[in-house]
Amino acid sequence: MPTNISSTREIPKTGIIPRHVAIIMDGNGRWAKNRFLPRVAGHKRAMETVRGIVKACAERGIGYLTLFAFSSENWRRPKDEVSVLMQLFIVALEQEVGKLHENGIRFKVVGDLSKFEPKIIEFIRNGESLTAANTNLTLTVAANYGGRWDIMQATRNMLSQRPELAHSFEEEDLMPHFAMSYAPEPDLFIRTGGEKRISNFLLWQLAYTELYFTDTLWPDFDAGELDLAIESYQQRERRFGRTSEQLEASSSTEGARRFAATESA
Ligand code: IPE
Ligand code: IPE
Ligand code: MG
Repeated sequence: MPTNISSTREIPKTGIIPRHVAIIMDGNGRWAKNRFLPRVAGHKRAMETVRGIVKACAERGIGYLTLFAFSSENWRRPKDEVSVLMQLFIVALEQEVGKLHENGIRFKVVGDLSKFEPKIIEFIRNGESLTAANTNLTLTVAANYGGRWDIMQATRNMLSQRPELAHSFEEEDLMPHFAMSYAPEPDLFIRTGGEKRISNFLLWQLAYTELYFTDTLWPDFDAGELDLAIESYQQRERRFGRTSEQLEASSSTEGARRFAATESA
C-alpha cells in the first residue's frame, strides 16, 4: 500500500501510535525573553529540544517526524536573526547528520531551497543521500517552506510534465508532486508556544490531521510533553466524515473478524 493515500479519497488506516507527527516549533524567542536573554539564545536551546524529540519519536515507533524550522515568511524577521538562524542550520547539519545516520534515521529537507546559500544546499543534499536507505524514522525539516508554495510548485510541476491536465486533473495527479509525497499525511499536528494557527505549514496535508496546541514553549518541550500530545491523540475519534455509529459498527465487525482469524489459527 502506498504511504501517501489521500484522506479525502480513501479512509486511511490509523493506529494507536501516530505514523506521522508534524510540529510547529514555536516559542523560542519568548523562552529567551523570559530569561532576559537575546532571542537567538532560544533558537540555540531549541536544537537540544529537537535532539530529544527525534530520539523520543524513534523510541515510540513513530515513522515520520516533520519539524517546521523556518517558514517562507520568516525572511521578514530582522536580518541579524535570520542570519543567526542560517548559521545554526549549518552547524546543525554539520554536527547532527552523522549522528542521525548512526541511528538509522532518514533525513529530508522540504521547502524552496533556491534562496539558501550553495553551502547549505550541498550539506542538505549530502545528508539526504547519506541517510536515504535508513528505515528507523524519517525526519523531515521544513526550511523556507510554505503550504501555499508547496501547492503552487506541485501544480506547476505537474502541468509542465503533463500539459494536457490543464483543464482537468485529480488529486492523484497532483499528489506525487508535493514536497512530502514520500510520507503519509500527518496523523498528529503539534504547535508549541500557545498560538492556535497553522502559519502556512502543511495546508493540503493537514486536511484530516488531529490538531494539538500547547502553551509550552518549544525549548521546554520534552518527551513527557510529547506523550501528553500522543495521549490526547489517542482519545480522539477520527471519523473522516463518517458518523460515530458507523465507526462502532465497523470496529465490531473488524473485532469479530480478528477473533475468527485467531480461532481458526
Ligand atoms: C520559533 O520560535 C522559531 C522560528 C520561527 C524560527 P520564534 O522565534 O517564533 O519564537 P517566538 O514565537 O517569538 O517566541
Ligand atoms: C511558525 O512560527 C514558523 C516556524 C515555527 C518555523 P512563527 O513564529 O513564524 O509564526 P507566526 O508568525 O507567529 O504565525
Ligand atoms: Mg513564533
